[in-house]
Amino acid sequence: MPEKITNKNIVARSLASVWHPCTQMKQHEHFPLVPIARGEGAWLVDFEGKRYLDAVSSWWVNLFGHSNPRINAALKDQVDRLEHVMLAGFTHDPVVELSERLAKLTGLGHAFYGSDGASAVEIALKMSFHYWRNCGKTDKKKFVSLEGSYHGETIGALSVTDVAIFRDAYGPLLNNNLLVPFPAREYVEQAFTGFSAAKVSESPANSSVSLETILSSHHRDISALILEPLVQGAAGMRMYSPDYLKRSR
Ligand SMILES: Cc1ncc(COP(=O)(O)O)c(C=O)c1O
Repeated sequence: MPEKITNKNIVARSLASVWHPCTQMKQHEHFPLVPIARGEGAWLVDFEGKRYLDAVSSWWVNLFGHSNPRINAALKDQVDRLEHVMLAGFTHDPVVELSERLAKLTGLGHAFYGSDGASAVEIALKMSFHYWRNCGKTDKKKFVSLEGSYHGETIGALSVTDVAIFRDAYGPLLNNNLLVPFPAREYVEQAFTGFSAAKVSESPANSSVSLETILSSHHRDISALILEPLVQGAAGMRMYSPDYLKRSR
């Protein structure tokens, strides 16, 4: 019979077999892993029944709570009917329905699927380059991103990411892209000291000057601008004004 899983033995087995992401494994010599047996709504529960409030929604992924009954029922129903089929040369009703709903919500055209956020960013960068290539503009190879941006950790996504802890070791592998200043720094500071509406709309205007300068001086080489809309997560939940998004577009 297999050994009963406990908080203690699962942590030891994990440290001996799993390379935990975004982690310096040495930290776990002093800072223990949290063993999780199950999840319920906003709570995670360990093997001894201790509950933890999942305040970060498991990296902002479980926005509708753990073991959400409606989501779980849909997953079970789907897995019993069709667990997987390749999408090259084949199609099925869930992918068509989702794509139609996404198109309606976004006003964009066809949906292309990746396996995670970083691969979605890779796909977007490639699509943008490919578009310009089809237009005969093969020099448009550079991407513009904001200071402090985080777009994932595959090589292409990391090349538009500006968070030192993820990027520094791999610098020599990354394309030389263009960074523009984070917009509305004043807005962030003033949010805590009482800011005026006028100040908010002024600051993106000021900071978009640098974006404007880069676009006008490098437009022949630029393929796309990539942004985390309104909030930079990994940089520390830094907010910026919707005006900046509108003006950038
Ligand atoms: C804005 C943004 N882009 C891309 C990613 C990468 O997503 P993934 O971890 O699924 O590769 C993240 C992950 O947190 C993100 O916050």
